[in-house]
Amino acid sequence: MRKYLNDSWYFKDNFKTEYFNNVNVSEFVKIRIPHTVKEIPLNYVNNTDYQMLSTYYTELDLSDYKDKECYLCFDGNAHYSDVFINGQLTATHKSGYTGFKVHIDDKYKNDIIKIIVRLNSYETLNIPPFGNVIDYLTYGGIYRDTYLEIKNKSFIKDVFVKADMDKTLTLDMTYHNTKPNQKIKISISDISETFEIKDKYSFKDLNVNLWSIDSPNLYTLTIELLEDGNIIDIYSVNVGFRSIRSDINGIYINNELIKIRGLNRHQSFAYVGYAMPSRVQKLDAKILKYELGLNAVRTSHYPNSQDFIDECDRIGLLVFTEIPGWQYIGDADWQDIAVENVREMVLQYRNHPSIFMWGVRINESDDNHDLYTRTNNLARELDDTRLIGGVRCIENSEILEDVYTMNDFIHKGDNEGIRPRHKITNDTEKALLITEYCGHMYPTKIFDDEIHRTNHIKRHCKVLNDVNKSTEHAGSFGWCMADYNTHKDFGSGDQICYHGVLDIFRNKKNAAYIYASQSDSRDILEINSSMDIGEYPAAIVKDIIVMTNCDKIALYKNNEFINEFYPCEEYKYLKHPPIFIENTVSWWGGNTYDYTIKGFKNNQVVKEIKIEKFKELFFKINTDTQILTEDKSYDVASVTIEAVNQVNNHLSYFNEPIVIETSGNIELIGPNIISLKGGFGGFYIRSSEAGKGKVKLYYNNNIIKELDYEIKTP
Ligand code: GAL
Repeated sequence: MRKYLNDSWYFKDNFKTEYFNNVNVSEFVKIRIPHTVKEIPLNYVNNTDYQMLSTYYTELDLSDYKDKECYLCFDGNAHYSDVFINGQLTATHKSGYTGFKVHIDDKYKNDIIKIIVRLNSYETLNIPPFGNVIDYLTYGGIYRDTYLEIKNKSFIKDVFVKADMDKTLTLDMTYHNTKPNQKIKISISDISETFEIKDKYSFKDLNVNLWSIDSPNLYTLTIELLEDGNIIDIYSVNVGFRSIRSDINGIYINNELIKIRGLNRHQSFAYVGYAMPSRVQKLDAKILKYELGLNAVRTSHYPNSQDFIDECDRIGLLVFTEIPGWQYIGDADWQDIAVENVREMVLQYRNHPSIFMWGVRINESDDNHDLYTRTNNLARELDDTRLIGGVRCIENSEILEDVYTMNDFIHKGDNEGIRPRHKITNDTEKALLITEYCGHMYPTKIFDDEIHRTNHIKRHCKVLNDVNKSTEHAGSFGWCMADYNTHKDFGSGDQICYHGVLDIFRNKKNAAYIYASQSDSRDILEINSSMDIGEYPAAIVKDIIVMTNCDKIALYKNNEFINEFYPCEEYKYLKHPPIFIENTVSWWGGNTYDYTIKGFKNNQVVKEIKIEKFKELFFKINTDTQILTEDKSYDVASVTIEAVNQVNNHLSYFNEPIVIETSGNIELIGPNIISLKGGFGGFYIRSSEAGKGKVKLYYNNNIIKELDYEIKTP
């Protein structure tokens, strides 16, 4: 049984040993988890604000569980946790990105016990990723679920599920304290059988469909521990049957060569850093798959939440996950923790079908034969079903892994998109996968001018095109999904790296549509330009780009047909190259023009856009849900805002304030007045309790939107 504790903690932004004797909760803040030790501004962040020793306090009454085994579980505490039970140091955990469990001894089951987590979120810790500069904020807080696991004295400790494309299933079992009179019942698909207790079970020819990117079939495996016919423990997990392998030609899922097309994802969000609940984690996976049309994500630079990976399993988004770290390798103690991080990552995540590869190097670190021999060996020992990678940015690095995973930032706008294989490695057997490109080579803000945003599009096009053209590359992950808060040594001086194809609220920059248009799942027809000559030096408009999966477009000027345009030659290796519109925009002084663009598939118009000069202001306001669920904790909905004109043209320089008013059982995350930036904005609201809530948005004292929320309990 799992009992969530997310709503039972008190927080104090300091730590004192006197708390061991007495915690006066009136001096603490009652909080809900996911929690951040400090909410931060959108940008211009002082990174010392979240560096502290803090105290999380709760009381537990386990007197009902005297004959049980109890574990206090934490899925993610940033970064170094000491857990005290009644003042006794009972466990220490040294990573902000993996979970841990604390066994609660029977002696603590007579009275109410006092739990204190002393959480250290200083960036001076001698654990990964700390030790040198880091290009992302590391935040602090108990930011993933906390719960009690209550078990009978005998239970199933762990199961490693291996489900293969030949429809075999192997279960590697570990138990706690089992007895000869106990049995195991295994149910999946049309199997439901009871067995003697064993360490391994194998099944053949299961009646299942395979898990793949396009058809992510999942089956529920239930394993019951039975004693005298009674169920005394249940282990349940989603299983996807699929196989992964690689060779010099690339990466295969179920023997099919897959060209990886993905982006890197940081798990951070505006204001609250890492502290976002399940829905928001899952939303990112859906954005990557359904809105950006990708088939993979790299969880740079650490394991992401189980919720995020669960969603990747469900929707068919491949995951490359890796141990925490950024360029720096520390001393022997530090390295031991990095190895431990491999163990925790593999053991905690190895039942996810979407994970195809483990990253067992510190991102962009130098070669280190001894350390990486240890991490490779451990990952192989714990999991023989997946690929091993480890991200470097150096050429000819020692390749202990299965795949040469390389950050290739060679492209600078006017040269080749990627390095040829022989420049990277003289290995002749292993797959080569690009794990980052673009990013810092061309930071782009959603509020940059048109020329800048256009160059951003072209750089992503060029790299994607060259990766597609190459038979030497298994695919690529771009840098990166969304803008993120960072340290002073990086970013644009305001503690944001504007490297995303999405902004920090997940609004789409123009370049996002290059990704979206590679997928055929919906019709895409998006233009990079407002067709205003005055936006360009000397009024010379360059590079009007239509990002589309249409076969061709037709352009009309003031309703008069001008010409048809076709996918460009320059990026012809893209599945759907963008379409350039040339020689159409005229010198000023005459009439202003309206344009219509029609997109055709098989000679049928499937989509149409109009481009008109501004007459009237509108706002497009979207929320991902209006039903929130108070389940294992609070729930969060995202709201995005876009300023548009009368025909839905984006207003790129609308930077005005919007006032946000909330009422009922919801709270606003962040300030109640926000400025749109480049015509885009966003915010989040969180549930406070079941019932109803309302958001009213005002521009210039007028209500522009009301959003009603219903907050349910499950
Ligand atoms: C890479 C690094 C990423 C990010 C990126 C920016 O070198 O691995 O974390 O900093 O550069 O382009």
